[in-house]
Amino acid sequence: MSAELQSKAAKLFADRFGTVPDAVNFAPGRVNMIGEHVDYNDGLVLPMPVREGTAVGWSRVGGDGFEVVAADFGEDDSFSGEPDKPGEVSWRSYVRGMIAESELGSGGMRMLITGDLSRGSGLSSSASLCIAIGRALAQAGGVEIAPVDLARAAQRTEHNWAGVACGIMDQMAVAAGEPGHAMLLDCRDLTYSHRAVPEGWAVLITDSGVTRGLVDGEYNIRRAQCEAAAAALGVASLRDASLEQVAAAGLDEVTRRRALHVIAEIERTRDAAGALATGDLAEFGEILRGGHVSLRDMFEVSVPAVDAVVTELQAAIGAEGGARMTGGGFGGAVVAVLAADRVGELKRATGREFLRVH
Ligand code: GLA
Repeated sequence: MSAELQSKAAKLFADRFGTVPDAVNFAPGRVNMIGEHVDYNDGLVLPMPVREGTAVGWSRVGGDGFEVVAADFGEDDSFSGEPDKPGEVSWRSYVRGMIAESELGSGGMRMLITGDLSRGSGLSSSASLCIAIGRALAQAGGVEIAPVDLARAAQRTEHNWAGVACGIMDQMAVAAGEPGHAMLLDCRDLTYSHRAVPEGWAVLITDSGVTRGLVDGEYNIRRAQCEAAAAALGVASLRDASLEQVAAAGLDEVTRRRALHVIAEIERTRDAAGALATGDLAEFGEILRGGHVSLRDMFEVSVPAVDAVVTELQAAIGAEGGARMTGGGFGGAVVAVLAADRVGELKRATGREFLRVH
């Protein structure tokens, strides 16, 4: 957590409640380098935590209620006992959901939430919020919770309180990621390893300017299509399917494309982890470019504005690195990887603003 965010959360808490918080907990957002729409197919993913995220200042008070302030929205929430679902999905759904799903909080808490992660840009602001709340609840209750359990509670919150049938990549990257490292996560058994990003590489994010909207329905449709593909191929998940099986199966065109993306994307993630280990930037860039084409044409989750940003960045970067859409799609962020000493050149060539992840 940046020093500014920490002191901002403490100050806003004190302004609101008249006391200093007992503690401020933090959870970052994440960017995914490669391995898109494969987490819910038991695949491999390679996300990285970003520096920005969500801070929760809190203190214990008497009673069994919760008083929660979302400072960035200028909104409050208060309840006691088992929280109900709010009428529509909002930040309240995530806070209440995390309290209910993690079973970590017994109430008697004031919390103030603030963050420096832009919402709707595909950097997992909701997973960041859930994990930050979970950390605050655990510390306030004096309990230790394993990152995997925190991630699972946050995923249940998305499923049961926000209606998004997401995989577990975002929650795992946020709960267990290590700054400056990519995380090679096997979404089948949740084993992972932290992979150092070479010193001489830069990982950058730029916002396409298109806020993800109405995506949850599309997301859930993609997941259902993948499950239908796995069922038609007679496998437990697309992780177990091969390109040959898809070619022989006579799937309808849409189902066939979805399956081909997932199978190739899992392979790309494996290859990208190899290129990261050997520091092969040209190979890594080629994998990113291939990943974008597949998300655009086979999985059909990109939008023209994002494609335009990717094309612009790829032209400026050339063969030594690459760029692609990152996250669920339908807008949001683009990730770019290139030699660290070329970042100034990329900024001048594109006139764009970037968040530096590494
Ligand atoms: C969203 C979901 C993740 C994952 C990505 C696509 O971020 O929350 O579980 O499926 O989309 O890779």
